[in-house]
Amino acid sequence: MLTRQSLTDKRRELNMIALIVAYTRNRVIGNEGCIPWRIKGEQRRFRELTTGNIVVMGRRSYEEIGRPLPNRTTIVVSGTKVFEAENCYTVKSLSEAIALAQEIAPDQHIYISGGARLYEEAVPLVEKMYITEIEAEIPGDTYFPKFDECCFNKEINERVEGEIDFTYVTYTRK
Ligand SMILES: NC(=O)c1ccc[n+]([C@@H]2O[C@H](COP(=O)([O-])OP(=O)(O)OC[C@H]3O[C@@H](n4cnc5c(N)ncnc54)[C@H](OP(=O)(O)O)[C@@H]3O)[C@@H](O)[C@H]2O)c1
Repeated sequence: MLTRQSLTDKRRELNMIALIVAYTRNRVIGNEGCIPWRIKGEQRRFRELTTGNIVVMGRRSYEEIGRPLPNRTTIVVSGTKVFEAENCYTVKSLSEAIALAQEIAPDQHIYISGGARLYEEAVPLVEKMYITEIEAEIPGDTYFPKFDECCFNKEINERVEGEIDFTYVTYTRK
């Protein structure tokens, strides 16, 4: 079983493991297989951070996008399907995804990018959580898990005002 402890020594030298998510005040991340908001510029930090690195995502999230994201490696977690594309790998578990990332690109960061089950499994493992707080309540059917804020230092990076305001924050494990 994958634990933070078992990753600690390796992680100091190898890939940083982070998660990246946008969620609303009611912790919604998705609805009916899609992200239930369109906010101009909201995905900027996702693009900036993950480009040149490794993105790990669940099968439904990958199917929503429908192709690997450009200029980064995509690792899809699925027990039922295999996706074949350039810079795209399929594995059966989060631990396999992390092992593969460490093997193919030990100098790149790993960004776990949803959905709900992967986030649930990732929260205890990650060093950082890059969270976009969407400052609205939006209905949905998929949620980011509650986590113990005491385990992290929270830094507010940038607040962007618009039709729906959002704030980029970073949680770093203490
Ligand atoms: N707001 C955000 O930042 C954000 C980010 C990502 C996704 N989303 C939204 O979230 C929703 C999708 O999330 P979701 O939770 O429904 O689905 P998901 O995690 O993207 O995909 C679920 C599937 O991935 C595989 N899987 C996931 N975790 C696994 C694990 N730990 N071990 C083995 N297999 C695993 C399984 O595939 P198999 O069934 O093939 O075995 C599972 O059925 C969509 O609405 C999407 O738009 C939002």
